[in-house]
Amino acid sequence: MNPLLQTLQPYPFEKLRALFKGIEPRAGFTPISFGIGEPKHPTPELIRDAVVNSLDGLAAYPPTLGSEPLREAIAAWARARYGLESLDAATEVLPVSGSREALFALAQTVIDSRSTPELREAEPPIVLCPNPFYQIYEGAALLAGAQPYFVNSDPARNFACDYSAVPADIWARTQLLYVCSPGNPTGAVLTLDNWRELFALSDEHGFVIASDECYSEIYFDEAHPPLGGLEAARVLNRGFERLVMLSSLSKRSNVPGMRSGFVAGDAAILKQFLLYRTYHGAALSTVFQRASIAAWRDETHVRDNRAKYVSKFNTVTPMLAEVLDVRFPDAAFYLWANVSRTGLTDTQFAARLYADYNVTVLPGSYLARPAHGTNPGEGFVRIALVAGVEECVEGARRIVEFCRTLKS
Ligand SMILES: Cc1ncc(COP(=O)(O)O)c(C=O)c1O
Repeated sequence: MNPLLQTLQPYPFEKLRALFKGIEPRAGFTPISFGIGEPKHPTPELIRDAVVNSLDGLAAYPPTLGSEPLREAIAAWARARYGLESLDAATEVLPVSGSREALFALAQTVIDSRSTPELREAEPPIVLCPNPFYQIYEGAALLAGAQPYFVNSDPARNFACDYSAVPADIWARTQLLYVCSPGNPTGAVLTLDNWRELFALSDEHGFVIASDECYSEIYFDEAHPPLGGLEAARVLNRGFERLVMLSSLSKRSNVPGMRSGFVAGDAAILKQFLLYRTYHGAALSTVFQRASIAAWRDETHVRDNRAKYVSKFNTVTPMLAEVLDVRFPDAAFYLWANVSRTGLTDTQFAARLYADYNVTVLPGSYLARPAHGTNPGEGFVRIALVAGVEECVEGARRIVEFCRTLKS
């Protein structure tokens, strides 16, 4: 067996199951889950219809490269969304089976774990991850033979990572850096200054930047969509060298089950990624390729979807702000709430809320690693506002009541 498998950590939801084991929630409360970040709004009719009308696609093996019309649809969407003068559908865009798979596979493509053969044990290549973070980055790094290095996000700086604190010997070994913008779990969006710093570091040290942007279309001000990595490159008058972005229809179009996303950016990386994927064998089904074309070409359902999140966040955030330290995120569908003032740790908070009110939230410490003397997720819980408005409001009402009982 591959010994690297033993280095993988249990997934946050496994830890949550262990935390809740043996707890019987108090009677009289229907379960409400703010735990898993799975969109719950209905899949738009136009996508369902496109799936049904594409079923003849089941009779063919899908091309790994994706169909030309899909690559064109994605390139057109990205050009319009990020104001790009050019994004070549033939060489700079690759459809994938959801961004999770691609985030993982990208590390297997990029990492050269033999680059320090004699020192491999002592000094493996580094993959830089934000902390807290989406756990796939860590597993992808470990299974590629690299070592994750965590850069803590700082609540005092809108959860930006302090890259200036990374030592020179770590930069020298860094081959890949993940960013998540809008961030899971904090919702924070990288600014142009953050990007300027990252591009300069990548130019100096030669690492690849993988920008996870799967929440980019969940935001609250129609006039200010989150800045994307390719967009930042365009604004800063540079090309896409050593930069790829990953996006997805899962959250944008409420189709997490369709497993449809894309990677775009540096053509040289995508060429090697395509080669890797030929063997990886994770091509997106032709049925879903066709349905994805319909989804990327339509913005009406995306605006309607955003409107639902806006109304939920507008109602729920002020309710929770009365009892927890929480504020409107830049984007995405999570509230990242500091529970310290309740006197409970994040795991105690989650366990007691579940026991007393049958509401599930995810302890922040499960989404982060201890690094540099602290676990930056500790004291926080992640609240995924994915259910319908009424359920979210009822869940928030119960959290408020729960916090009030703690204080009395
Ligand atoms: C930060 C982040 N990236 C990527 C993904 C994967 O999304 P998908 O594979 O559905 O595109 C998720 C899913 O929850 C996520 O939270």
